[in-house]
Amino acid sequence: MKSTAEKRNLQKSLLGWFDREQRDMPWRDNRDPYPIWVSEIMLQQTQVKTVIPYFERWMRSFPTLKKLAGSREETVLKHWEGLGYYSRARNLHKAAKVVVKEYKGKVPDTYDTLIQLPGIGRYTAGAILSIAFDQQVPVLDGNVKRVLSRLFVMQSNGVPAVHENRLWETSTELVPGKRPGDFNQAMMELGATVCLPKKPLCRVCPLQKRCEAQQRGVVDQFPAPKVRASAKKIEVSAAVITRGGKVYIQQRLHGGLMGGLWEFPGGKREPDETEEVCLKREIKEEMGIPISIAKKLMTIKHSYTQFRVTLNVFWCPWKSGRIRATQCEQWKWVKYEDLSQYTFPAANAKIVKSLLSNGGKF
Ligand code: ADE
Ligand code: SF4
Repeated sequence: MKSTAEKRNLQKSLLGWFDREQRDMPWRDNRDPYPIWVSEIMLQQTQVKTVIPYFERWMRSFPTLKKLAGSREETVLKHWEGLGYYSRARNLHKAAKVVVKEYKGKVPDTYDTLIQLPGIGRYTAGAILSIAFDQQVPVLDGNVKRVLSRLFVMQSNGVPAVHENRLWETSTELVPGKRPGDFNQAMMELGATVCLPKKPLCRVCPLQKRCEAQQRGVVDQFPAPKVRASAKKIEVSAAVITRGGKVYIQQRLHGGLMGGLWEFPGGKREPDETEEVCLKREIKEEMGIPISIAKKLMTIKHSYTQFRVTLNVFWCPWKSGRIRATQCEQWKWVKYEDLSQYTFPAANAKIVKSLLSNGGKF
């Protein structure tokens, strides 16, 4: 690493830039750890401009940790709908309950205590401690990794855990005792607005003169491109089963993927099946009833991290039979206008949106 003087210069340049250029964000208004915590959880995997309206709505509904702890999980999940990675919301809710119960509603201010809370890892603990409590603790997220790897031309030797450790060490050495929270946010913000993955804006970068990758003309080699297995494709048939003015929905099992969220029944198509044969089989398995298919309503494509789903959606007016749904938490007949009270995974939410826009007329 660099000499103390070099480090000081770098910190000063970055903080000066942050003072001039930082974007307005509603959680930057004060040092209350609760909103800072909420924002940091939302900002994992999601961009600032998407997060802002979610954050504002969240803080209106759950203005304090106590209020959050006392709210129903359904309500909490509804506020997360569209952000994805719902375990973030569930853990935040669980952690709020712990803080209210064990720490009288005050967010702990030590690393060892914070890290024990559900959903708080090394990154989130670092962000809360540095931003809310002014402690000299580092952060490392995707943006900071990219900035550091370019500043100090750091490349993986093939063992990701070793590389990760080196980056944490570097971030630890760099974070100053004065304004650690601003410094950490400045690193993240530089990565998000200047030190971009594809075409970094080195000409306007406050660290240009101190950046080894820039000085050596090898910026585009950092970080080395990741080899990532392409997301698996799956095809799913789903049924919109209607009866009177109502539609059938079921709640996914708690604990599993997207646990606790609501969905239309259906499932994965086997290679030898047509979409319709798949649907009839799945409905028989899931609900214990036969269905008749009136028509295909739509095809929806959606990408999750692990897979890409094509959802073939069919309208199935209710026929007969006693529903014995065994693979879900619960099921319901719901009026169209009440659908928006339930939380659906992204692909299913697209079905809801389309149903609401045509008032249940197919
Ligand atoms: N990304 C995650 N947390 C952030 C923060 N506090 N400021 C800027 N970007 C962020
Ligand atoms: Fe990133 Fe370019 Fe700044 Fe280096 S000079 S930190 S590569 S934007």
